[in-house]
Amino acid sequence: MPQLANALAYLEQQLTVSLAEISAIAASFHAAIGSGLAGEKSSLTMLPAHLGKPTGQEQGHFLALDFGGTTIRVLLVELDGQQGFHLINRRAAPLKDDWGQYNYVSPQSSATALFDFIASQIAGLVDDNTFYALGHTFSYPTRQTGCNNAILLNWTKEINTPGVIGQDINTLLFAALKRRGLPLVVPQVIINDTVGTLLAAAYQDQHTDIGSICGTGHNTAYLEPHPPWTKQPMIINLESGNFDQLSFTMYDQQLDQTSEQPGQQRLEKMVSGRYIGELLRFILVALLRNGLFTDCAAAFAALDQPNILTGQDVAVLLADDSPPYEAIACWLTHRLGLTTSKLKDRAALKAVASLLATRSARLITATYLGILQHIDPTLQRCHNIGIDGSLYEKLPGYANTIETTFTQCLQEKASQITVTLTKDGSGIGAAIATAIVQKSQCNKTPLSIKDTEGTT
Ligand code: GLC
Repeated sequence: MPQLANALAYLEQQLTVSLAEISAIAASFHAAIGSGLAGEKSSLTMLPAHLGKPTGQEQGHFLALDFGGTTIRVLLVELDGQQGFHLINRRAAPLKDDWGQYNYVSPQSSATALFDFIASQIAGLVDDNTFYALGHTFSYPTRQTGCNNAILLNWTKEINTPGVIGQDINTLLFAALKRRGLPLVVPQVIINDTVGTLLAAAYQDQHTDIGSICGTGHNTAYLEPHPPWTKQPMIINLESGNFDQLSFTMYDQQLDQTSEQPGQQRLEKMVSGRYIGELLRFILVALLRNGLFTDCAAAFAALDQPNILTGQDVAVLLADDSPPYEAIACWLTHRLGLTTSKLKDRAALKAVASLLATRSARLITATYLGILQHIDPTLQRCHNIGIDGSLYEKLPGYANTIETTFTQCLQEKASQITVTLTKDGSGIGAAIATAIVQKSQCNKTPLSIKDTEGTT
C-alpha cells in the first residue's frame, strides 16, 4: 500500500493549484487578453460578437436554435420585456445516436446532412406558414463581421463534420431550412453560447459582464468596455478553452496527444466535461499499476477503452461523501467490473475525482480573475458572472470551489463578485440577441443564399 499512498500524494501535488499559481495564471490570462485585443500573438482569439448588453426590456417571441455539442435544442421563447422569459416549447435531439444508426458529427458525415437534420428538428416545432425570427447559438470558434454571419474557424470538442470549416454557418442553416420547405424561418443572428449566457444573465442582472460555460466544453465571454473596433462596449468571445500558459501533468500531455487536435484547447482539455472522464481514466490506469485494487484484471480491461469514463462518472464519485462509500463500490461493480474493493481503494477513487474537479474549478476561477483585472483592476464595481453547463450545475462542490477560491484570492473584495447559474442561458440568449438585433442598427449582413450542395 505505501506505493499507492505515494502515488496519491504525488498526484495531489501535481493536481493542486496553489494560490500563487492562481495569481500567476490570472496575470498571464490578463496579458493574453491585452495581446489578443492588440492583434498580437495570443492563445486567446478575442472574437467580437457585434453585440452589447441587453437592457432587460427586450420583448417578443423568438425561435432559438442551440447547437453546442452532440445535442441540438430548439426552443420557442417569449421575452416579456421586464427581465422575464417563458419557454413556450422545446425539443432536443442528439446529433449522434447511441446505437450507431447515425452520426452527423463524424468525418463520415457532411455539412448538408448535418444541417438537413437540424432543419428537420426545427420543422418539428414550427408551423410552415408562420414567420419566425431565429437566433442561433453556435458554440464553436467563429469569425464574425456582423451579428448574422459567422465563419467557422475550427471545430472543437472532438466534432469533425467535414465541409463546415470556412463556411458561413447561418447561410448553411438557411439553405437547409429552404430545402426543408421552411423559408419563413429566418436566421437573424448567430452567437456563441458564452455570449448567450452573458446576455441571459445580464437580461436579469445588469451587473453581469462575464458569461461562461463549464460543461462539455469550457469558454468565457465578457463585455469589453473599449473594443478596438468600435466606440461602443462590445461582448467578446475569448475562446478561453484555448488558453495554454499552464503547467501540464503527464496525464494532460497524454490526453492532448490522443485528442483530435493536439496542441489546441489546452485549458479546455484540463477542465471540461468532455475530457475530465478521460483524465480520470488515464490516472486510474496509472494507479492500477501502483497497487490500486488487488485483483485488477477486469478494471484494466474496462479502462482500456478510450473515453469510457465521462463527467458523469466523476460526479458519481464526488457525490458519495461518507465511508463505506457504497455508491462508489456500486460504481466499481458496474463500470469496472470489480465485485470487491477495499475502503482505501474507494477513498482513493473519491480523492482522484475530487482533485480533478477542484483543479478544474480553480483554473477557471483564475481566468475570471484575469478578466476582472482587465475590466476593473481595483474592483470598484459589482460584477456578476453567469455560468451555464453541467459541471457548474451538477458536479458536487464545483460551484462552491469557485466561490471559495474568489474569497481566498480577493478577500473582502470578493463581495463585489456574484456567480449565478444561468440555466438554458445559451438558448435564451439567442432569443435576447435576436430582439436586440431587430431593434438596433446592428451591422447586419444580409444572408446570401448559395447552393450548398457539393460543399462536403
Ligand atoms: C468550446 C468551443 C467554444 C464554446 C465552448 C463551450 O470551447 O470552442 O466556442 O463556447 O466549447 O461550449
